[in-house]
Amino acid sequence: MTPPAIERILFTEEQVDARIREVAAEISARYEGRDLKLVAVLKGAVFFLCALARALTVPVKIDFLAISSFGGHSGQVRIAKDLDHPIEDEDVLLIEDIVDTGLTTRYLLQSLAGRSPRSLGVCTLLDRSVRRIAQVPVDFRCFEIPDRFVIGCGLDYKQLYRNLGYIAVLNPDKNREV
Ligand code: IMP
Repeated sequence: MTPPAIERILFTEEQVDARIREVAAEISARYEGRDLKLVAVLKGAVFFLCALARALTVPVKIDFLAISSFGGHSGQVRIAKDLDHPIEDEDVLLIEDIVDTGLTTRYLLQSLAGRSPRSLGVCTLLDRSVRRIAQVPVDFRCFEIPDRFVIGCGLDYKQLYRNLGYIAVLNPDKNREV
């Protein structure tokens, strides 16, 4: 039974798993013969990172960043936990849970680009391009989604629901402030 917080399921666990494997095959082909550094943003991208990394056939390293927001809804963020290792001369793929306004991704790309990686790409589980403010390059995306707040597969509402295996639209009647 789905929790009452859910209005409808957008993508089932089977659909998510299958699509992640397809995108992993695209990435493996693109980076064939090279090592790949996956950089994921805590905490939302962790579930996607694990599923994706297991399906890749190129050698993979992983590292994590954490960010915190300030300035209300203006999209201003700062790095609260930085990478453990340098990325100089590495092929880096930034792993995102969702690219929404694109403001977070733009900030992170600027920060990572300044560290002289050999290449820098973006891979996101979800893309809500209708809300884009900052035009950022998205190299790999699993799903385009409508303009609704979603949960599951790492995405939270008040820190809950990250562990759902599917992607669902939150029920606004049960979660009045959304
Ligand atoms: P941005 O607007 O592209 O900067 O996205 C910022 C962050 O907001 C994302 O990385 C997510 O953590 C969070 N976020 C955006 N939309 C949703 C959603 O529908 N559900 C849960 N988190 C979201």
